[in-house]
Amino acid sequence: MTRKSSELWTSITSSLFSKIDDTFLEDFRAPGGANSRLAAWDPLDKSMRYYKFLLFNVAYHKPDDFFDAYRKLGNTGTGNPVTISIADCKIDIDYLFAVEEFMFLRQHINLHEIKKVVEIGAGFGRTCHTLMRLVDSVEEYTIVDLPEVLKLSQAYLKLVAPDCFDRITFIENNDIDAWSALQSDLAINIDSFQEMPPEVIDEYVSKVISASTSFYCKNPTGKYKPECVGLPALTAAELLDVYSLGYCQKVFDLFDESELSAAREIYLRAYKPSRNWKLVADEPMSMIPYTHHVLYVRD
Ligand SMILES: C[S@@+](CC[C@H](N)C(=O)[O-])C[C@H]1O[C@@H](n2cnc3c(N)ncnc32)[C@H](O)[C@@H]1O
Repeated sequence: MTRKSSELWTSITSSLFSKIDDTFLEDFRAPGGANSRLAAWDPLDKSMRYYKFLLFNVAYHKPDDFFDAYRKLGNTGTGNPVTISIADCKIDIDYLFAVEEFMFLRQHINLHEIKKVVEIGAGFGRTCHTLMRLVDSVEEYTIVDLPEVLKLSQAYLKLVAPDCFDRITFIENNDIDAWSALQSDLAINIDSFQEMPPEVIDEYVSKVISASTSFYCKNPTGKYKPECVGLPALTAAELLDVYSLGYCQKVFDLFDESELSAAREIYLRAYKPSRNWKLVADEPMSMIPYTHHVLYVRD
């Protein structure tokens, strides 16, 4: 009886482990190798397994006030995101990031004094939704973005936060006069300066951020080779485009701690708006540590 294996393992052994020789031993633990049936799933697994475990694990270690804040957001399910459930909250990756951003800000700035917020590059509007729900003092929230993406944030925010909608202004990136006239208490850029040409960032810094009293930036600290995360190599022209964007263009190994520390130092200096500003706090993002939270205030 003990000699009888399952049909599953009869099939696995005959297909993957029928020939254990030097060639097999050389790379059976590499991506695509037979080890995906033994110790762990394949590094290139095509399912949501790793994503959902990562999301679950990061959320699982959050303090109680993270979940209190998350619950106050109300509708976070529009757009049908992948979720995991903890403490009666359906958590998705976008709002996990947004509540982390709120908690970082709350820890380092007096949010009760923030009346005017400007966000450059807001995506579908998760940060706006979050800050409008969690920070009572915000009277005006302005989003500057590409026209196509503004259509999405307008439609999304109208749906999920109708009671706040008349306090949100949407400005197209090519309406320079409109965004040059903005004054704010907090300017925000999340995961988008690193996707803009440096001269575009310069203009936002000199006209929008310099007209604010604080600047919260959460961006990647540099560039990486696609192969480093298992993506197919890009053509030289494609690489040249991506590598020419953002203030931090150094290519480094995201998974080498000493390279990561060096990249962070460069990043913290690069995004400081000018010598009249001081760095108040910074910390790596929980889930993607090569992306970094930093808060600067005018000195
Ligand atoms: C990767 S998304 C990040 C969105 C959002 N901050 C988030 O983290 O969910 C980059 C954002 O930058 C915007 N963007 C790109 N170029 C821009 C420009 N020149 N001016 C303003 N926004 C821009 C995109 O439309 C998009 O909203």
